[in-house]
Amino acid sequence: MADADTTEAKNYATSVPMQNVPFFLKGSNNLDWGMKNRLAQIFNPTSGRTVMLAFDHGYFLGPTSGLERIDLNIVPLIEYADTLMLTRGILRTTIPPTYTRGIVLRASGGPSILKELSDEEIAVSIDEAVRLNVAAMAVQVFIGGEHETRSAVGKEMVRDAQYMRLATRMCAELGATYVKTYYVDEDFDTVTASCPVPIVIAGGKKLPEPEALQLAYNAVQQGAAGVDMGRNIFQSKAPAAMIQAVRAVVHENLSPTQAYDLYLALKESDKQSVEN
Ligand code: R5P
Repeated sequence: MADADTTEAKNYATSVPMQNVPFFLKGSNNLDWGMKNRLAQIFNPTSGRTVMLAFDHGYFLGPTSGLERIDLNIVPLIEYADTLMLTRGILRTTIPPTYTRGIVLRASGGPSILKELSDEEIAVSIDEAVRLNVAAMAVQVFIGGEHETRSAVGKEMVRDAQYMRLATRMCAELGATYVKTYYVDEDFDTVTASCPVPIVIAGGKKLPEPEALQLAYNAVQQGAAGVDMGRNIFQSKAPAAMIQAVRAVVHENLSPTQAYDLYLALKESDKQSVEN
């Protein structure tokens, strides 16, 4: 039998209203606890931003440069990421189950680079995502592509702010809790402003490190909630140094110049520790 509660002096703090703290992420305040909890495994509640390490490219590209051996090339980097963007097969085969941060699972796929890429279908069920204990499921959309209603990155579309406003807003209106898109040089702030959920930017093709850091900086300063970066990290000459420099831009607002100096310093110290 439970002990009776015999404490006489209780403190109900009747004059203190219960706190009602808004959730830190744009557009997420009315979601249920489970959704917020999973989003907090992706976005850092202190900075409100994320560095997602993306290495799902093999789902249509195969073993592309830098992803030939995910166990050797990527696993050593996962400690620096807020979350991982990957496929079901790589999660099961290569990522240690002791990893406890959020996982973003690619849930659409099908066609390879040999065919029309917009012909994607849903490739993972909700049940499977629950079994894999992931924090989010990601579907690609090819707005303006041949099969835009099925899935939405129109390779023939001009990538400007007008197109990105259309594409990101469509995703949010259809229920996405956050949207990954490409950065555009002009008026990117109008893309983030007109999308009611957070936007993270894909890194895109490999750039020299200073340019990739500038890209990340521009995006977060114009309202992006972080980056989903792949090739500019895993194809860098010093991937561990690069992801740490990207983190400094995203979470600490380091300028691109300061972040590049950090990259060079970390690269040098990594080189020395390998030599010793
Ligand atoms: C493309 O295959 C995936 O959607 C990637 O997750 C995304 O494009 C980010 O990777 P990257 O920075 O290499 O563009």
